[in-house]
Amino acid sequence: MKVSVKVPATIANLGPGFDSFGLALPLYNVVSVEETVLPGTGIQINIINEKNNDESDLADVPTDKTNIVYKAIELLYNFIGQIPNELKITIKTQIPVSRGLGSSASVIVGGLIAANELLGRPADEKVLMSIATEIEGHPDNITPAFKGGMTVASWEEDGSIIYRKLPWNDEWKLMVCVPDYELNTEISRSVLPKEVPMKDAVFNLKKSAMFIDALYNKDEELLKSALFDKLHQPYREKLVPGLVEIMNNLKHVNGVIGTVLCGAGPSILIIYNGIGVSEIKETVTNSWNYFNVKTNFFNLPIEKEGAQLIG
Ligand code: HSE
Repeated sequence: MKVSVKVPATIANLGPGFDSFGLALPLYNVVSVEETVLPGTGIQINIINEKNNDESDLADVPTDKTNIVYKAIELLYNFIGQIPNELKITIKTQIPVSRGLGSSASVIVGGLIAANELLGRPADEKVLMSIATEIEGHPDNITPAFKGGMTVASWEEDGSIIYRKLPWNDEWKLMVCVPDYELNTEISRSVLPKEVPMKDAVFNLKKSAMFIDALYNKDEELLKSALFDKLHQPYREKLVPGLVEIMNNLKHVNGVIGTVLCGAGPSILIIYNGIGVSEIKETVTNSWNYFNVKTNFFNLPIEKEGAQLIG
């Protein structure tokens, strides 16, 4: 038996919602899990590059038991008192890797849902989300990968995930700017301080609350004021040359609501109201050109659906 699951890309944080806000994008990875017929074949992991990645981007992804998809599946087997023996895991990838677009969350979620089906669904969604978050380390990509749309999520002290889907105004469009270099999430987290000034914490608290109110009331002006952060972006600027310039240069472009880092970076998300596409692209291209960075643009709506079984 073979089970395949299609899972969307995601963008975490969205400015003020560090480790808690996330949204899904219509770019997908497909993870298939099957029990191999021949005993003794062990664990096989194949990665198939469909588009949006260079072969070199995928060269470092492990295909042994250190692969995160395998690790997630192993935790699920352990949950029911078993260990995986003969498994073939195939990952068809369209989501750019190490760019802040949730490629790891997507394959973790895909692998877990597929393996859970193979095993006869021993785990419910709550358990799958907890296992996925344990592997990923934070729930902000995992939740929209599972559920689609815009989400807020909290990893509670008992290991459970509390989440809610939030409304998204379809008039707000997403321009995702993906640079031609990778940034490892671990490195991007290593530059964050262990403690932050009280005033910065309060700053993000206000902005996150405003963000949610803006979503419920389709309030573009409020969203414009909310898309700022003092907990992670300022520390990550040095890892994303051009980020500050792009943010500043886009401030005065007609149609732009806000510019934020995608997750841990290095991609940049521009939320805009449907106008100014060519000026936005030109501004980003010129700013990054200065730093010798090339960019791929994905002009996308939000993906409303989360992970789906496709066979
Ligand atoms: N919230 C996480 C971070 C997302 O900013 O490090 C990384 O995938």
